[in-house]
Amino acid sequence: MEELEALRRRCLNCRECPLSEQRRHVVFGVGRADAELMFIGEGPGEQEDLTGEPFVGPAGRLLDDMLELIDLHRSQVYIANVVKCRPPRNRDPLGEEQNACRHWLDGQLALVRPKIVVCLGRIAAAAYIKPDFKITREHGVWFDVDGVRAMAIYHPSALLRDVSKRPETFTDLRELRRTARELCQHLYS
Ligand code: URA
Repeated sequence: MEELEALRRRCLNCRECPLSEQRRHVVFGVGRADAELMFIGEGPGEQEDLTGEPFVGPAGRLLDDMLELIDLHRSQVYIANVVKCRPPRNRDPLGEEQNACRHWLDGQLALVRPKIVVCLGRIAAAAYIKPDFKITREHGVWFDVDGVRAMAIYHPSALLRDVSKRPETFTDLRELRRTARELCQHLYS
């Protein structure tokens, strides 16, 4: 889609917050411009900063495995982040950085128009679903965000650190597949 490509090109030149000073690449997002399912992560890590692609490091490999568990491939969905430039030493993005970057994510959401959004981890859930999101209590729960069905699951990096969270995530993923089959015309057809 031309508009999404135009947005990407503008984003690649963004200097709206200090994260732009140390970045090697802007990590805009990848996937189908008409994806029915969008994943939102927190922000680029080292491998993503080096390549310009979201979720290509260890967390990304686990995300690919999680997609495979529900019979999906990243080429069928859209993957974005709350901030498009890597925070130093992978610290959480600051509120100011998230606010400065927010219009890029809003642009992606407005153009892709997913039916379902899955937030990866607390930072993305707090940015997209509600500011006081409690990931331990509210992962796997459906919310309505401006008419879009939204859920958060544990961030793949959290699942790499703490394997005891994986069974709950497996349950959440199965619930995601069930709802995606119901709401998305093309994903499982
Ligand atoms: N973690 C994220 O939140 N996003 C990425 O793109 C990579 C790791």
